[in-house]
Amino acid sequence: MATVLRLVLLVIIFCGSAPGARTQELDVNQEAGLAPLPQVANYGICKSMVEIHGYVCQEHTVTTEDGYILSLQRIPAGRSSGDTPQERRPVLLQHGVLVDGAIWLLNLPHQSLAFILADGGFDVWIANSRGTKWSRGHTSLSSDDPAYWDWSWDQFVEYDLPATFQYVHHQTGKKIYYVGHSQGTLIALASFSQEKLLNLLKSAALLSPIAYLGQVPCPLARSAAEVFIAEVNIQIITNFWLGVDEFDPKGKAVDKLLKAICNKPGINCYNLFTSFTGKNCCLNSSTVDFFLEYEPQSTATKNMIHLAQMIRGGSITMYDYGDKDKNVKHYGQPTPPVYNMSGIPSDIPLYLSYGGKDKLSDVNDIQALLYSLKDHDRDKLVVQYQEDYAHADFVMAMNAKQMVYDSPMAFFRLH
Ligand SMILES: *[C@@H]1O[C@H](CO)[C@@H](O)[C@H](O)[C@H]1NC(C)=O
Ligand SMILES: *[C@@H]1O[C@H](CO)[C@@H](O)[C@H](O)[C@H]1NC(C)=O
Repeated sequence: MATVLRLVLLVIIFCGSAPGARTQELDVNQEAGLAPLPQVANYGICKSMVEIHGYVCQEHTVTTEDGYILSLQRIPAGRSSGDTPQERRPVLLQHGVLVDGAIWLLNLPHQSLAFILADGGFDVWIANSRGTKWSRGHTSLSSDDPAYWDWSWDQFVEYDLPATFQYVHHQTGKKIYYVGHSQGTLIALASFSQEKLLNLLKSAALLSPIAYLGQVPCPLARSAAEVFIAEVNIQIITNFWLGVDEFDPKGKAVDKLLKAICNKPGINCYNLFTSFTGKNCCLNSSTVDFFLEYEPQSTATKNMIHLAQMIRGGSITMYDYGDKDKNVKHYGQPTPPVYNMSGIPSDIPLYLSYGGKDKLSDVNDIQALLYSLKDHDRDKLVVQYQEDYAHADFVMAMNAKQMVYDSPMAFFRLH
């Protein structure tokens, strides 16, 4: 089962990486590369992933209003440049779901965005969402308490991002550039639509943007969403699904869920494995092995349900309690409030980069997002399209600097 688990995680995370004649083959059978490195657990991200490359790195923590203690890594300078952090502009990197900030550091320094930004004159801050390995602290709850996991990405919008922006601003005295990937784009767009963070923001680059999810064509992702919601309903009635508060991709409950998904008619995980992960655009197989040492990471089951609701519903709303009375109790209305993407102020400098092979950030969903932004100031919205790129390429591709990062960095210098 461990093999199936890894394979399905790869499919979920790399979904949309269609086979083709690509630069490098991903050999998924390199079991040796999947062996955990015991020393990883004993060091923070700075020690294990940044300092080893010769960069200065500081560990910081920020506490949210609802008590979560989040870790942040700061790379205040590049390897060679002699300037000081005072001259540098802070940039905040926000990862997606089921991973943590380590995702920005997996490739060689000249290929990984965090290092490229540090060497490019930025003061780099790496966020780690609540519930991930280095952000599991809380002022009064333990991560063993169900109450610890009572959140979805709504709370990232409400608490985590504001606390992080305020902290970085307080430390640097400057407005912040933002780079989000996947869920990291969703929470930024949702915040901007409510006019949050704007007083502390310079501009934002959104890689593989996720807002509308109604078109996700990836069969496994859709099926996972369906089975997932069904499983959770069963759990509510029979308490069948244990460990349900924490969605731990390495845990038993998720294992059970994956079995259910893989048994569905029309879904053959072994075939999908081959077809989705056989050959990826531009991933280094060593990086993928490295990825599996650090990721995947936990999130709240409630967050996975929220994302699944978006795949099924096709709209961007707050978490749906699935019952009128409960929604009224939480929101004062029978349906969850909508995040209105047309409400994003038209003068925020936004850089969007999306991929033609990305089945989680689907081209049709991107069109829906761009339609919401149709009145955005022309000189404040740049859209980049990478035909060959899929979801993970935006953070892990070997050639991402040339293909993607150089132009949002130029955009940051302009805005
Ligand atoms: C792939 O990653 C390994 C390990 O970091 C590195 O030695 C190798 O140079 C990388 N290959 C390319 C083409 O970047
Ligand atoms: C969304 O915002 C736009 C622009 O502010 C407004 O015209 C539109 O009515 C809003 N839509 C909803 C559903 O609130």
